[in-house]
Amino acid sequence: MKAGQPGAAVLSLSVAIFGTLMLQSVSSQNEPSIVASEPFTITREEEEVFLRCNLTSAYSTPQESYWMKNGEEIADTRTSNKYIEYRLKRPRGDDAGIYMCVYTFDMAPSANATIEVKSAPLITGHKRSENKNEGERAVLYCKSVGYPHPVWTWYKIDDSIIKEIDNSSGRFFINSKDNYTELHIATLDINLDPGEYMCNASNIIGNNSETSVLRVRSLLAPLWPLLGVLAEIIILVIIIVVYEKRKKPEDLQDDDDLAGPVKTNSTNNHKDKNLRQRNTN
Ligand SMILES: *[C@@H]1O[C@H](CO)[C@@H](O)[C@H](O)[C@H]1NC(C)=O
Ligand SMILES: *[C@@H]1O[C@H](CO)[C@@H](O)[C@H](O)[C@H]1NC(C)=O
Ligand SMILES: *[C@@H]1O[C@H](CO)[C@@H](O)[C@H](O)[C@H]1NC(C)=O
Ligand SMILES: *[C@@H]1O[C@H](CO)[C@@H](O)[C@H](O)[C@H]1NC(C)=O
Ligand SMILES: *[C@@H]1O[C@H](CO)[C@@H](O)[C@H](O)[C@H]1NC(C)=O
Ligand SMILES: *[C@@H]1O[C@H](CO)[C@@H](O)[C@H](O)[C@H]1NC(C)=O
Repeated sequence: MKAGQPGAAVLSLSVAIFGTLMLQSVSSQNEPSIVASEPFTITREEEEVFLRCNLTSAYSTPQESYWMKNGEEIADTRTSNKYIEYRLKRPRGDDAGIYMCVYTFDMAPSANATIEVKSAPLITGHKRSENKNEGERAVLYCKSVGYPHPVWTWYKIDDSIIKEIDNSSGRFFINSKDNYTELHIATLDINLDPGEYMCNASNIIGNNSETSVLRVRSLLAPLWPLLGVLAEIIILVIIIVVYEKRKKPEDLQDDDDLAGPVKTNSTNNHKDKNLRQRNTN
């Protein structure tokens, strides 16, 4: 029998097939009742925790019982016992959530009880850094485990001071859902936007935060290697031209040197050189 089926249909079916059982199930004392563990909060110390359900009264013996977490059946928990336990070994943030024990019956709706397991949020994923060009859009995100789902806030860290995000330019958009948040920054500004951003997850139990680094490159940046090469070529050309211009008169002098003392306008130079040579000798 599926849960949520109209009771009337179930009852009329029971009348037709199990008249006596129907009489019993109408009497409130046989309405299923489940004694379940109290809700609890995960701290860091628990070695293990047992979630317990005890079906203390029922339409009949249960056909099957099993555990669910956040609306999904936990595998390998099906038994036919009235008293069931689910063990959390060294529970952490991702063990938090809404647990439910479910008992199914042959000819009656299923019965269930919920146990809330709470924990402070823990950020389990975030973008460590984002590199974009100016004018582009940056997207930072964080995701968490823990229950209840956190309230998310984003901050900017300027000179190690945590500040509210200044949205006077209207370029910041925050998109948060349950255990996930995104910060969009449109039309990146190279002067205002680079730096550290912090996402903060906070629930009734505690809070946690992580930071992401945003780098914004100048639009000229991709051109710089090209400009560098161009600059090198220009400098090289200048050096060559200058060198060539200066080289010519010196060449003539050198030729004179090699050719020995020939009548030139630099005879005085040669005399000086000869003198220097003699001195060193
Ligand atoms: C479950 O409930 C039944 C009936 O109330 C009781 O006799 C039994 O001791 C309980 N079992 C546990 C493990 O608490
Ligand atoms: C749990 O029980 C409620 C009624 O008490 C029912 O509406 C719901 O569908 C049940 N959930 C499951 C998973 O059996
Ligand atoms: C976040 O929540 C959704 C449901 O809201 C769930 O399916 C998903 O597994 C959760 N992710 C984490 C990391 O807890
Ligand atoms: C920033 O301003 C824009 C435009 O006014 C608005 O649409 C957006 O929601 C604001 N963002 C935040 C995080 O307040
Ligand atoms: C946030 O967590 C810190 C410890 O990490 C704690 O001191 C502070 O009180 C918490 N704030 C809230 C609002 O829970
Ligand atoms: C997260 O935000 C809460 C509430 O605004 C604040 O009390 C807490 O100090 C922040 N946590 C961190 C780690 O910044």
